Amino acid sequence: RWQAVKMRPRLRPWRRAGSRVVAQAGSYKVAILGAAGGIGQPLSLLIKMSPLVSALHLYDIANVNGVTADLGHCNSPARVAGFAGKEELAGCLDGVDVVVIPAGVPRKPGMTRDDLFGINAGIVRELVEAVADHAPGALVHVITNPVNSTVPIAAEVLKRKGVYDPRKLFGVTTLDVVRANTFVAEKKGLPLADVDVPVVGGHAAATILPLLSKARPKTSFTDEEVEELTARIQNAGTEVVEAKAGSGSATLSMAYAAARFVEASLRGLDGDADVYECAYVQCQAVPELPFFACRVRLGKDGVEEVAAAELRGLTEFEARALEALKPQLRASIDKGVAYAQQLP
Ligand code: NAD
Ligand code: LMR
Repeated sequence: RWQAVKMRPRLRPWRRAGSRVVAQAGSYKVAILGAAGGIGQPLSLLIKMSPLVSALHLYDIANVNGVTADLGHCNSPARVAGFAGKEELAGCLDGVDVVVIPAGVPRKPGMTRDDLFGINAGIVRELVEAVADHAPGALVHVITNPVNSTVPIAAEVLKRKGVYDPRKLFGVTTLDVVRANTFVAEKKGLPLADVDVPVVGGHAAATILPLLSKARPKTSFTDEEVEELTARIQNAGTEVVEAKAGSGSATLSMAYAAARFVEASLRGLDGDADVYECAYVQCQAVPELPFFACRVRLGKDGVEEVAAAELRGLTEFEARALEALKPQLRASIDKGVAYAQQLP
């Protein structure tokens, strides 16, 4: 039941055209805001390859025309259109089903994700205001850090505009799941495609909580393995930031993860049953935390079910880690809400 979405594109039904058999084009429109950036470019390429997408709108404040021209030459069905600068943002959002937001600055070595708040909060606010005005029914995927705070900001902005639907707003935490799956498969010698580890909590340091006891296939870990794997998954973003030595943070693995989450969302919109992914959403899985990452079922209206039951039967290690992350996650949520509530 908890089968995660694999990065295997699901071709839509084949139809006959005269003597030829052709794949039917998808019908969903996706917008990427921040499309010319380190994440935005490879993410745009992956989404351009999705058979579910008919139109791909690329928006950025810089360099978007080159990315659009380049990507437009790929002979996959999605039509690509570029939108440069604020005056074109409304056109970019017109009629889209999913808006993905990777716009904003990334970390450099020595920084926390929260250090990005000062710049990125304003970027998310501005973009989500436009989403509220021009694509109020769209699913919104927020990648911009600090996700623990930018998602509550987005929620407040949508509320003020009177168009907030908690089922349609997501903080993208798929990269934590992708990393957990990779590291567990490597450590335990399991086939990569079979491993599925839920990761709950938030998307920063100790708020990232992999539930190794709930990993599929059922796997046993020593206490040392649990500690080592948990620490590696929590610090994986920093591992990349340090390796990139000042030139940014994870982009390729993030694009891969975000494309997986878009594909899952589109499959949900398309009526596929049993589409589950972990995401940071408004929910009551943990009563003290209005936003929490956990496994959700995706459907025609976004989140259709929150798998809060997965938080039952945790190991002692996981239960302690969950208690420990609560104050940090709560503070990040409150910071986002306070920021948005003081806006004029
Ligand atoms: P980047 O600097 O390479 O690209 C950011 C892009 O955003 C640039 O093209 C820039 O022009 C654009 N941009 C800036 N302000 C904008 C605005 N107001 N409107 C539209 N576009 C704007 O950065 P990146 O490596 O792509 O990272 C982007 C964000 O994603 C960062 O905040 C980073 O921390 C975050 N991130 C999140 C995760 C996650 O798991 N959620 C993973 C990796 C990175
Ligand atoms: C990640 O987990 O890779 C991202 O949140 C980027 C970062 O700053 O670590």
